Amino acid sequence: MFQSLQALPADPILGLMASYRADNNPRKIDLGIGIYKDEHGNTPVMAAVKKAENSILASQLTKSYVGPTGAADYNDSVAKLLLGTTLMDSLGKRRVTVQSPGGCGGLRLAAEFIKSANSGATVWVSDPTWANHMPLLGSAGLHIDQYPYYDYASHSIRFEEMLACLGNIKAGDVVMLHGCCHNPCGADLSQEQWRQIRNIALQQGFTVFIDLAYQGLGDGLEEDVYGARLLAESLPELIVVTSCSKNFGLYRERTGAMTLVTDSDATTAIATTQIAAAARAMYSMPPDHGAAVVQLILNDPALRSEWDEELSTMRGRINGLRAQLVKQFKAASIDEDFSFIKREKGMFSFLGVNVDQVQSLINDYSIYLVNSSRINVAGVNSDNIDYLASSLAAVLTT
Ligand code: LMR
Repeated sequence: MFQSLQALPADPILGLMASYRADNNPRKIDLGIGIYKDEHGNTPVMAAVKKAENSILASQLTKSYVGPTGAADYNDSVAKLLLGTTLMDSLGKRRVTVQSPGGCGGLRLAAEFIKSANSGATVWVSDPTWANHMPLLGSAGLHIDQYPYYDYASHSIRFEEMLACLGNIKAGDVVMLHGCCHNPCGADLSQEQWRQIRNIALQQGFTVFIDLAYQGLGDGLEEDVYGARLLAESLPELIVVTSCSKNFGLYRERTGAMTLVTDSDATTAIATTQIAAAARAMYSMPPDHGAAVVQLILNDPALRSEWDEELSTMRGRINGLRAQLVKQFKAASIDEDFSFIKREKGMFSFLGVNVDQVQSLINDYSIYLVNSSRINVAGVNSDNIDYLASSLAAVLTT
């Protein structure tokens, strides 16, 4: 029966990770997968995480099952990080938060949930969006369409076109937005733009679904959830999927959550049974370790402030690198204007080079980036920035 299977192409992002690891060039640079790296090119376990892990190791008394919706304390803690105490209190039982196996697990859980509420729903994603949104949402059987988002020529948001498209989307459909640090383009909505989207959502009645994988890596923990909080306080319904992969550096521990707001306590109670059943059917229950770490950090004042500081160092490094890249590209006599990199947020920006130039960077210079020309800014450091700039200059002039 299995002889008829066809091999699939490598994942556009994870495939790069494997190619980078296999490359023996000592000058190789990994600008592919979205993993934070420090100045030495390492992705160390955060100090607050290490301390929390040690404490859990010493104090944990059982490995008994947690349950399909995860640990209640963790769910409350990440909901508070997302919404803040005041909004969380005012939403009361209209809100539920369910632990998920990473952000991907949360997205897939949300997709199954949307399917159970409206199997004919179209999920509208930004053009462009994260490559894995399509398989995650599509494999749940949802129809996917795109709204205009990024203008590659001006490196800005096609906001008027986006609004015009949203203005035709009906109740029963779902509009997915990136909460902050847009993946792949780094161009984020302004506060005014979030307000306009809120107004259109109210007018049209579609459901908003926010993917928030980078809280704290753009402008700050509070600043990065402006849009999510605005929509949570003013729309009758909202789905937000959060991830602790990047801001807690817990990538492989698969730690995320899906938060749902509906128009009534009763609807949320019913919806929770559907979400729990979807989790049970797919993976039974989420892994515990990462969630236990996050829960401890967010509730222990010393660990919390250590984590805040580490996160702010990571954010500062990324924003500093953005400014340095612009400077360094100029210094390498590159004529193209790369100043947009400084304006954009989070780990990613498009270099704006074509696929052949991307392939040349990979094959001739061992500089790994996604075919769309998306780079992970955090992969740059003072040892490789000159080589990156001179290689890009060479590729742009051949
Ligand atoms: C990325 O976009 O590189 C990250 O979110 C990692 C992944 O799973 O693709």
